[in-house]
Amino acid sequence: MQEKILILDFGSQYTQLIARRVRELNVYCEIHPFNHFPPPDSSVRGVILSGSPWSVRDARAPLPDLKAVKGNIPLLGVCYGAQYLTHNYGGEVLPSDTREYGRARLVSIDENDPLFNGVTAGTQVWMSHGDTIVRIPEGYNITGSTGDVKVAAFRISGEQTWGIQFHPEVYHTTEGTRMLGNFVKGICRCRGDWTPESFVEMTVRSLRQQLGDDRVVLGLSGGVDSSVAAILLDRAIGERLTSIFVDNGLLRKNEYAAVLDAYRRMGLNVKGVDASADFIGALRGVNDPESKRKIIGRVFIEVFDREAHKVQNVKWLAQGTIYPDVIESVSVNGPSATIKSHHNVGGLPEKMHLQVTEPLRLLFKDEVRRVGIALEMPEEILGRHPFPGPGLAIRILGEVTPEKLETLRDADDIFISGLRNNGFYDKVWQAAVILLPVQSVGVMGDERTYENAVVLRAVTSTDGMTADWSRLPHEFLAGVSNQIINRVRGVNRVVYDISSKPPSTIEWE
Ligand code: XMP
Repeated sequence: MQEKILILDFGSQYTQLIARRVRELNVYCEIHPFNHFPPPDSSVRGVILSGSPWSVRDARAPLPDLKAVKGNIPLLGVCYGAQYLTHNYGGEVLPSDTREYGRARLVSIDENDPLFNGVTAGTQVWMSHGDTIVRIPEGYNITGSTGDVKVAAFRISGEQTWGIQFHPEVYHTTEGTRMLGNFVKGICRCRGDWTPESFVEMTVRSLRQQLGDDRVVLGLSGGVDSSVAAILLDRAIGERLTSIFVDNGLLRKNEYAAVLDAYRRMGLNVKGVDASADFIGALRGVNDPESKRKIIGRVFIEVFDREAHKVQNVKWLAQGTIYPDVIESVSVNGPSATIKSHHNVGGLPEKMHLQVTEPLRLLFKDEVRRVGIALEMPEEILGRHPFPGPGLAIRILGEVTPEKLETLRDADDIFISGLRNNGFYDKVWQAAVILLPVQSVGVMGDERTYENAVVLRAVTSTDGMTADWSRLPHEFLAGVSNQIINRVRGVNRVVYDISSKPPSTIEWE
């Protein structure tokens, strides 16, 4: 049985980070909203209570019943979690005089406490709370204090229950990983055998069980997630998986052929479908970005549905859904297991009347890549920049036409090849060329020109939620600009986008 740690989510912005830190220790862990908490079975080795934007004294504060956990299995309350363990059991939590935010030092710690095994007094921790614990209930022992916060850490005697008011998961808590390791490995006795390799083995086994002799279809996008999902399914059921790669006519130059070829070399049973005429036709005369997205989503579903039903006896639709799509912070939207709305092919399962299998639904993005490496997938697939489902259609501002697509493809190819050839491709998170609906005056030889402007966009990011523009060398940009203006017909001006996200977005539409 796969041992695991459960995180009870009270909506903190850091909850996912706790999960990632635990997983970096090779211990599998799951996040559950505080009010949808499954009764822990014997695979659950410990529970962590997350932080929260709420105060325990708020009327709407999350106040879950911990009967099934507290005192029975190891429990660690972090920030709000620690305050809840205090407030709800006879202690007192009050607004702190000064908001406790930022770096602090644990000036005293109980060195015999297994949570602090190997941690040195004076170690830096990160505080982020408006409330503070002023009185602990009977039977609680203070195990760590900072200069300002007497109850920075406590343990309940006779129980495997701890509380810490600081955040061990953030980088600024210097020995936070050690503390989390002490909890999950020392206290909860997790073996730490959850690795990409063990994930592959476990997933292949459970896919075989789930799918039996059934046939499965999967839509490949060329991106990392759907590709890794396909290879996992291929390991599990081989030829009974049919992968479908649709050319929507909105891909980069030579992309369709190159990616299809890479899939075939990986041994996938893949079917390429050239549906570019359907997409380009449906986009004629459409200017509005959201309408473009909706049309592309709709045509994709139609094409995929048509092709998938050519596969005899298909029972399942596989999707490359990943963990951040599944979990949503409880703080803002309320607990739910809905998929983000900007998922391009939302609605596909309903339309197709197929059962859905999602082999990656437990993984974070970087874990998907590591699983891909464990599956020995080529770097040309795993190292690719993210590319939006609506493709070049949202990089041509205004109406999409075959001529504009050709112009953009040529310019984009020069930029992306340039990044690759100069060793910058892996240093930027995503790069794009955008074709503006703007013409400007130029001169070429003795002639005046009146042609298009394109934008180069390159960003650094970790997840696309925030991004900064890449500081690419001027000489490199100058070279790309020259090549584009000299070689791409219809373009006489190149500009570089120096906006960060927020307030700008990565794409222009
Ligand atoms: P923005 O422009 O919102 O983009 O900063 C963030 C990331 O999301 C990608 N993106 C999309 N991906 N369908 C997708 O599959 C879409 O409609 C879509 N819009 C933006 C974008 O390329 C970037 O990686």
